[in-house]
Amino acid sequence: VPDISLANVQAHLNSLQTIATNNGGNRAHGRPGYKASIDFVKAKLDAVGFTTQVQQFTYNSATGYNLIADWPGGDPNDVLMLGGHLDSVSGGPGINDNGSGSAGILETALTVARENLQPRKHLRFGWWGAEELGLIGSNHYVNNLPATEKSKIKAYLNFDMIGSPNAGYMVYSASGQPTGSLALQQTLEAAFVGKVATELTSVGGRSDHAAFARAGIPIGGLFTGAEVTMTAAQAQKWGGQAGVAFDRCYHRSCDTTSNINTTALDRMSDAIAYALWTLAGTGTPPG
Ligand code: PHE
Ligand code: CA
Ligand code: ZN
Ligand code: ZN
Ligand code: ZN
Repeated sequence: VPDISLANVQAHLNSLQTIATNNGGNRAHGRPGYKASIDFVKAKLDAVGFTTQVQQFTYNSATGYNLIADWPGGDPNDVLMLGGHLDSVSGGPGINDNGSGSAGILETALTVARENLQPRKHLRFGWWGAEELGLIGSNHYVNNLPATEKSKIKAYLNFDMIGSPNAGYMVYSASGQPTGSLALQQTLEAAFVGKVATELTSVGGRSDHAAFARAGIPIGGLFTGAEVTMTAAQAQKWGGQAGVAFDRCYHRSCDTTSNINTTALDRMSDAIAYALWTLAGTGTPPG
């Protein structure tokens, strides 16, 4: 499994920060910073050979966008999908929420291309719009997939907030989801063995995995925490601050590039790659 370059992930976050700064301080649905974020990610993927599609939807009288990127090849009937939301709240640039997950999967996708990975499964990545307004983009994507296409997606992994300043290392609990997958949970947990302790977390329906779970697709994910306060035991385990939120700048204007724990971002990004390389498999896909 390749090591994901923290410097490259940080460079993507710097670009998203610049986009927000140049567009009124946010990357929110219906605002110019959101479309600029889509254009930025799409250009990176197009340049290295991904097949990209921008899916439009309308919400609150504004046009929203999902970006879907397919890596050519692999078994078309066995799709492994990774995703996260690209939009921010209107009150800030959304660098941890969710520039972090967006940049982590972007750099993982670019690493797939750099290594010219020829996986057994077909790889697909999604950047969702209007998550902050109620998981709108991911629901639009799943609800508009024909049943045959839905059944080909065998796993969906979600990454929403993976660089929280007072970071926890949390894996979505299989038991906390309608289609929580023990296999996906355990693969994600295995990524951290010998590096840092993890905890299971019940994220419920609070992010874009929810639409996939409702459609019967096995899901998993990673999370470094939002508004909840870190306990003393967690602070001891992770070297954080007890009694302080995992992300004090959650949904605030201070969610900038300064609001990132780079150690957590690096470990989480490396774990995304571990899960992808482990789950995608190698060898010739069935013809
Ligand atoms: N979806 C939440 C947001 O974007 C963050 C979150 C992710 C909360 C995962 C809980 C679990 O604001
Ligand atoms: Ca790394
Ligand atoms: Zn989020
Ligand atoms: Zn949010
Ligand atoms: Zn590392």
